[in-house]
Amino acid sequence: MRVLVLGGTGFVGRHAAAALRARGHGVVIGTRDPKRARRGLSPELRAGLSDAELREIHLESLTSRYVWRPLLRDVSAVVNAAGILRERGSETYDRVHHMAPGALALACERMGLRLVHLSLLGLRRESRNRFLRSKLLGERAVAQTRADYSLVRPSLLDGVDGGAGAWLRRVAAWPVHFCPADAKGRIAPLDVRDLGDALARLCEMPGYAMPREVELGGGARRTLADYLEFLRSLEGRRPAAQVPVPAALARLVALSCDLLHLSPLSLSLLELLRRDNLPGENLLQALINRAPAQRRPAYAAAATPAVIPTGHETPVPPSPQ
Ligand SMILES: NC(=O)c1ccc[n+]([C@@H]2O[C@H](COP(=O)([O-])OP(=O)(O)OC[C@H]3O[C@@H](n4cnc5c(N)ncnc54)[C@H](OP(=O)(O)O)[C@@H]3O)[C@@H](O)[C@H]2O)c1
Repeated sequence: MRVLVLGGTGFVGRHAAAALRARGHGVVIGTRDPKRARRGLSPELRAGLSDAELREIHLESLTSRYVWRPLLRDVSAVVNAAGILRERGSETYDRVHHMAPGALALACERMGLRLVHLSLLGLRRESRNRFLRSKLLGERAVAQTRADYSLVRPSLLDGVDGGAGAWLRRVAAWPVHFCPADAKGRIAPLDVRDLGDALARLCEMPGYAMPREVELGGGARRTLADYLEFLRSLEGRRPAAQVPVPAALARLVALSCDLLHLSPLSLSLLELLRRDNLPGENLLQALINRAPAQRRPAYAAAATPAVIPTGHETPVPPSPQ
């Protein structure tokens, strides 16, 4: 099978592309800048994807199904892992997260292509945050079509090579943790490589084989403060001092980060962290057919011999929700 991975240079897309390749599929990477994309791939991925075609794609200008047609030539599935954290010029949340995915889904419907669309947990109708609203409208636009689609909603992603996960690892190393006082919701971080495997598996199966809305998370549920402490313990560090930041001050800092395009801290992230960000029915293990990757603190890893996954381990039952 040949799959177009939109945002195939990004944190999620890179792992989806690698997982598809590992399963023997052809991959076409959608990117705004193919030259930069070729240079920017890590040496490991460059080796695996050296013969992958790079296709120039600008979502902000792809808001009608007709303009998608030539870009979808010769593929049988599309993973949409493209997205923006902040708007720039014509790259608005509405165009990139809502209008373009809606038009893509219509094109997939007409062309009989499978569509795996990345969204996120915790989207609410009541939210007035423009980023979160655009993601919700994007979901709705895809769901309104008769395309063979799956909407994938992962919790926060952990991984060394990008996203908020890598940033949180750096923050966790600070001796003092400044956490918004109202960030009381729990997250179920999952390894981005597990998500990549799940996305590749979803491309292979028809949408009706699973719930259309696929919610994914790791085994543990933690608040932001607990998660930072956990990340710290992974490095064998002593607990950090916890300093709760008043909600209003946290919003001001997040707003500054949004305006200056600094770090993944944003008003949308703060809003998500106020409530539980957990999968309803966690379909991760059912999709990857093995236990999710688990990171353990340095002391626990030293006490227990490491198990090298063979890929043929007996699946463990999902943890109780
Ligand atoms: N990271 C997380 O923790 C997390 C958690 C839950 C859900 N998600 C969802 O997963 C998806 C991917 O997130 P990510 O963390 O992988 O983001 P990312 O690392 O920032 O990657 C986003 C990708 O989108 C592409 N892109 C951006 N604007 C584009 C445009 N106008 N036209 C075409 N392509 C464009 C970029 O490709 P080029 O620069 O090569 O053009 C980039 O590779 C998003 O929908 C996000 O909401 C992420």
